[in-house]
Amino acid sequence: MGKIKVWDGFIRGFHWLLVGALAVLYISGEEGWLELHFVTGYLLLALMLTRLIWGVIGSDTARLSRLINPPAKVMSAIKGEDSSVGHNAAGSLMVLLFFVLILMQLITGLFTTDDILVYGPLVKFVSYDLVELAGTIHHSNIDFLIAAIALHITAIIIYRIKGKNLAKTLITGSAELSSEQPKMQPGWKAYIIFLVLAGVLIGLWGLEPLSQLVG
Ligand code: HEM
Ligand code: HEM
Repeated sequence: MGKIKVWDGFIRGFHWLLVGALAVLYISGEEGWLELHFVTGYLLLALMLTRLIWGVIGSDTARLSRLINPPAKVMSAIKGEDSSVGHNAAGSLMVLLFFVLILMQLITGLFTTDDILVYGPLVKFVSYDLVELAGTIHHSNIDFLIAAIALHITAIIIYRIKGKNLAKTLITGSAELSSEQPKMQPGWKAYIIFLVLAGVLIGLWGLEPLSQLVG
């Protein structure tokens, strides 16, 4: 078996930045540290948008089109009979679920207010009913996200017990596989897209919370 590259530098960075950002967002949301919550929220929004763009122009294993599979393939992946490079069909479903839940949390946040001092940047454009609805979703969707994270980590532990160290692959980017090398793109291109998007979002919405945070 030869070593092949499975994850490019952006997917690896994306994953661990996502984990860090969600931890900061959860704690700052619960504690009411909303300046930190907003600034981190805009950075995560830029990161998620970059991931979606990378899903179109990035490496083979990052492609969004590879995340959608027929149910029969998902079932065989659950039974352990899918040896795809990158996400297998069951893992792909998990990734799609994460993207939907994370985007839902980010988008509803933009329309959420604490009804006292702090307003998401899009609150002023919609009716009070919609703001109420967004707030309700923002408060309850987080529980689904936590459940998905628990399932994700359980699946990774089960693979580990069965002898497959997926986390190591996601840290180093390479795996011992006898498959053909998937086509890779250099991750730095995605980081440039991320920096541009982060600059735009912070410039548009983040300067006030950022100045309160550092000042
Ligand atoms: C906040 C917690 C977490 C979230 C939200 C999360 C989310 C995700 C997402 C969205 C992906 C898909 C990556 C992509 O294609 O862009 C992924 C993959 C992966 N995650 Fe996590 N993750 C979390 C925690 C962890 C932890 C703690 C570990 C390891 C100990 C881990 C190990 C992995 C691995 C190994 C993959 C690749 C799976 C495969 O080979 O198909 N994740 N995760
Ligand atoms: C994935 C990203 C996000 C996560 C995980 C998250 C998580 C949370 C959590 C756990 C809370 C506390 C909810 C509670 O007390 O029941 C919260 C509150 C809040 N979030 Fe987020 N949030 C995210 C993104 C955003 C964004 C982008 C914004 C706006 C720019 C935002 C605006 C708010 C506001 C205004 C509150 C306070 C609501 C209140 O006090 O009633 N959030 N968030």
